[in-house]
Amino acid sequence: MFGLRRARQAAAALAVTAAAATTLLASPAASAAPQPVVGGTATTTTAYPFMMQITDASGNQFCGGTLVAASKVVTAAHCVVGATPRGVRVIGGQTYLNGTDGTVGRVSGIWVNPDYTDATNGDDVAVLTLSAPMPYTPAPYVASSQTAVYAAGTTARVLGWGTTRENGSPSNQLRTAAVPIVSDSSCRTSYGSDFVQSDMVCAGYTSGGVDTCQGDSGGPLLIGGVLAGITSWGEGCAEAGHPGVYTRLAAFSDLVTAQVDS
Ligand code: ARG
Repeated sequence: MFGLRRARQAAAALAVTAAAATTLLASPAASAAPQPVVGGTATTTTAYPFMMQITDASGNQFCGGTLVAASKVVTAAHCVVGATPRGVRVIGGQTYLNGTDGTVGRVSGIWVNPDYTDATNGDDVAVLTLSAPMPYTPAPYVASSQTAVYAAGTTARVLGWGTTRENGSPSNQLRTAAVPIVSDSSCRTSYGSDFVQSDMVCAGYTSGGVDTCQGDSGGPLLIGGVLAGITSWGEGCAEAGHPGVYTRLAAFSDLVTAQVDS
């Protein structure tokens, strides 16, 4: 199982330079059960103005990101590791992948957590610096002291353009869903030593059915409207007993702030 998950992470990273991101993001090991990602609902960037598409230079979306300051975007390390600023764009204010109404931002800097190796080892956080400010309202993000937000059972919100089922196709329209935070002990039962409690938090229903999926990585997990997690990894999507795994942002809040202030 570990190998399969690693393969998926590698695919997401490769998509940085791939035109056919959808093909690469599909998991060959996934089950065929038709479980809607996010089992959630369609929404808009008007409702979530900080929600950014991360694309390659040709505009192919491969990850999500969250605007946390006018020219700073939080995403996952596995989304942009190995990428160059000129190979990446950030698109704000564009509800539809095929839309033309948004703001395309160029990237002047990519900070990847220097401790990052693989999503299943934790440290899955990166900050992009934009060449020009985005005309959208940023999201607040958790402070390092706000560890209590991750209490099991708390409702969190996830967002993205990722596949709407395991092995499925991306969603042209931004989608969102609500998922409960899973206890660390339960997530440990699901994932064993791949779950790094200090760096990760899990969310999803015991019975599955609602989750982020391929292409949602890098996007936000919001708790009470505050950015508290980053979509990172999971075994398949929306499978019973395998919740989504998110970067526990409070653990990296000070590192992010150092980048936001730089
Ligand atoms: N690694 C995926 C990506 O690059 C995100 C997977 C999230 N999986 C899950 N079951 N929640 O888009």
